[in-house]
This record gives sequence, structure tokens and C-alpha cells, in this order.
Amino acid sequence: MLTTLKLPAYAKLNLALDVLAKRPDGFHELSTLFERINLADTIELKLLSKDDIQCVVGQSVLPVDERNLVVKIAKRLKADFKIRQGVRIILHKHIPIAAGLAGGSSNGATVLMGLNQLWHLGLSQQQLLAYAAWLGSDVAFFIYNTPFAIGRGRGEQITPVKLQTVLYHVLVTPRVSMLTKEVFARLKLKLTNKNDNVNILLPFLRQGDIKGLSEHLSNDLEGAILSLRPDFLSLKKKLLSAGALGVCFSGSGPSVYAMAESLSHAQAIKNKFDRRYSQVFVVKTQ
Ligand code: C5P
Repeated sequence: MLTTLKLPAYAKLNLALDVLAKRPDGFHELSTLFERINLADTIELKLLSKDDIQCVVGQSVLPVDERNLVVKIAKRLKADFKIRQGVRIILHKHIPIAAGLAGGSSNGATVLMGLNQLWHLGLSQQQLLAYAAWLGSDVAFFIYNTPFAIGRGRGEQITPVKLQTVLYHVLVTPRVSMLTKEVFARLKLKLTNKNDNVNILLPFLRQGDIKGLSEHLSNDLEGAILSLRPDFLSLKKKLLSAGALGVCFSGSGPSVYAMAESLSHAQAIKNKFDRRYSQVFVVKTQ
């Protein structure tokens, strides 16, 4: 009997993020191109004989109650399937928190899939996706085992893009947490003359044209992010002068990523980069 699992939970970047409209339910209609990257947390799941859901987080200030998506999904599954067995969820965090990298969503998706296995729930892909959409807008992407995908709706309607292309980046996450809700609230929607940035990027991605891709990265939340932190513009400029082919914010920020030609190019950009920023990672497509 399987009683423990140790799983990676990867982060994501948005290569394009178009905000199309504000919806009556308060969310925004999006079109986005997700990339899964090799920056990851590790999650251990251990079944307990005690009927209890426990969450332990190493070196982090995350809540361990239902505000944490791993606890929220475990409680929901336990109630829905009348499970009498407890579980201890141990999070080893490496992905910066509230950073536009979907760390919390990825953790939630990983626990959802892990408990499906450990508790023998037999949930189909369709059922997993329904739980994912209930949990958060960015969760569904991680249910698909794909390095790239288009996200529509709130971001939860996923079309996988199965490609072998591997992209290299330098990722910089300033030590400031940005609340997604706050960034969306500051957004000034432009509804005319809008580019379909996802479809502009896709051919470059398919052809592995890193230069073309780098020149067409875009994020409609940039104006809202910069209205909260105008100084982050200089961060983008610094990455470009360190040799980046292109730079863009991920999600609702504050993470900024640079495009590099190769692993060694990414390392060279990182080495040239300002040492004041402590969270600088070289990452690649996972
Ligand atoms: O779904 P999630 O909990 O990740 O969303 C966090 C917040 O981000 C929402 O409460 C909403 O304010 C904003 N959001 C949005 N439109 C989306 C996704 C998120 O307005 N498509």
C-alpha cells in the first residue's frame, strides 16, 4: 500500500498575457501563453492513521490553514469522498510567494493529483479539472503534463501546446509581494486595437525562434504593476543592458524574466546582473 509520495510542484511564466474584458463575476477574461519552468517546490504527502489534515511549511511564512490551497483542496476532497484517513502535507518552498509564478496554484494542483492517487479516488481528468477551476484560475495548467499551454477564460480553460522547444531565462523576483487582486483592480482596460499576442507568439515558439519570441513578449498587467512600483521599470532595463534578448513581467508580478539564447547566456546575464537582488534564478522550460 502506497502511504507516502514526494512530488515536484513547478512554477510557470506567462509569455503573453492579454486581458480581454472584465466579467460580471469580477474576474477578467484572459488569453495567455503559459510556460512551465524547472523552478519547483517539493511536496511530501504522508498518510496518517489520525483523522487530521496537517500542513508543515519549512522556511516560509505561508499560512497552514485553508488560506493555503493545499489545505483547502485536501479538506474538500476529504469531505466529498468521506475519507477517514488524515494526511500530513510537507511543503519545501523554493518558488517565491505572491510573485506571479503560480507557486500556490501549482502546490494545490500537485496535492490534488497526489491525493487522488494516495486516497484511490479514481478522479478522471475532467473531474480533476473541475476541482482545479474551483481552487483557482492558474491551477488547471498544472493538471496537464505539458511544458506550454494556452489559457483562456479566467485562465483555467487550457489548450496544451506540445512542443520540444526549451527556453532559457533569468528570473528576478524583487522581495515585494504583489496581490493579484490589487493588480487587477488597478488595470485600465484598453479594448480597442488590441493585438492577439498569444497568436502572435505561437509561430515563433513553434519555430524555436528565440529572437522573434523575445521581441513579442507582452503582459497587459504591466501598466498596473508599474503604477504600484514604477521603479520596476529600471529592473527591466538592467536586464536588457546585461544582454537579455527580451524581458517581461510574469502574471501579476513582481517577477520579471529575461530571455536568453542558451544556458550559458542565461548564466552570463545573471553574473552581470545587480547583486542587490537576492532572488535571481537561471531557469528553463520544464
Ligand atoms: O483565481 P485566483 O484566486 O488565482 O485569483 C485571484 C484574484 O485575481 C481574483 O480574486 C481576481 O481579483 C483576480 N483575477 C481576475 N481575473 C482572472 C484571474 C484572477 O480578475 N482571470
